[in-house]
Amino acid sequence: MWDEWMPALQLGVTPEQFRQLPRHPAYLYEYLNGIAYLSPRPRTFHAILDLNASLPPDLPPRSDVVLRAVGRADRAELVVAFASAFDQAQPFAGLDEARRREAARQVLDRTFAGGDGPWIADASFAAWQEGPALSRPRLVGAMLVTLVPGGDPADRDSYLWMEPPPPDCLERRLGQPHLTWVFVVPDLSRRGVATSLLAAVRDALRRRGYSQLLSTFMSGNEASVLWHWRQGFRLVEHPGAGRRWRRAIAPDGGGPALPRAS
Ligand SMILES: CC(C)(COP(=O)(O)OP(=O)(O)OC[C@H]1O[C@@H](n2cnc3c(N)ncnc32)[C@H](O)[C@@H]1OP(=O)(O)O)[C@@H](O)C(=O)NCCC(=O)NCCS
Repeated sequence: MWDEWMPALQLGVTPEQFRQLPRHPAYLYEYLNGIAYLSPRPRTFHAILDLNASLPPDLPPRSDVVLRAVGRADRAELVVAFASAFDQAQPFAGLDEARRREAARQVLDRTFAGGDGPWIADASFAAWQEGPALSRPRLVGAMLVTLVPGGDPADRDSYLWMEPPPPDCLERRLGQPHLTWVFVVPDLSRRGVATSLLAAVRDALRRRGYSQLLSTFMSGNEASVLWHWRQGFRLVEHPGAGRRWRRAIAPDGGGPALPRAS
């Protein structure tokens, strides 16, 4: 799904230029007969937040940004902000503005329609900038939360409903909330907008009786990785983790040791 929006590239370069090409971890680099082949190979990792743990020191809230519940009626503003936020972030950074907006429409519609698991509308928020300098409020960020089946957070199946979830899954507190989208427009980045959105999401999920929030980020997205870390998210063991391999080979812990750094 993630690579759907990432173009594959072919570049005519010398072997020396290929060696010098800057690399992005979401791409595979191959070289054959004078052509560099760049193919999308996005890798995603999961993280988990204990909603009952104390929050890290907050960034001062902005007085001109207010949070409101987000809904389908905000779609047009969401699309503009989404496309702007992902201008430099994969998997949408390789698209021109028109295609990025189209991608935004499609992924947001999918989320609203339950394609990422039932959408938890009352735990999803948008941030709006207001003020005399603006003719009308401007949507500057959002956080959309959906419900995934849950279970072992290292297991891929924990993020995908194999059967349609029961219609009353939220009332029965089945599954686990997942932070499916978070984005903030670049001109308001690092001013605490996503942190404020997370605080609102956290309160809403706790009111619903949930104690953990799962999230997914892509390797190479430094802003997202650092943001998750700053909020207290903990990296979840992934299917390819060395620990898992060693446990599978020797469940008593006597597996091969990792090579020591010299
Ligand atoms: C990730 C994102 C949502 C953070 O939103 P934000 O409102 O800027 O984040 P906050 O102001 O609440 O938090 C700031 C912290 O996040 C991290 N951070 C955010 N942007 C960063 C950047 N460009 N470089 C490094 N760290 C960054 C840092 O830890 C930062 O703390 P610091 O400023 O003290 O170093 C925003 O950068 C974004 O929309 N990115 C593009 C879309 C995306 O990748 N979304 C996540 C995947 S779904």
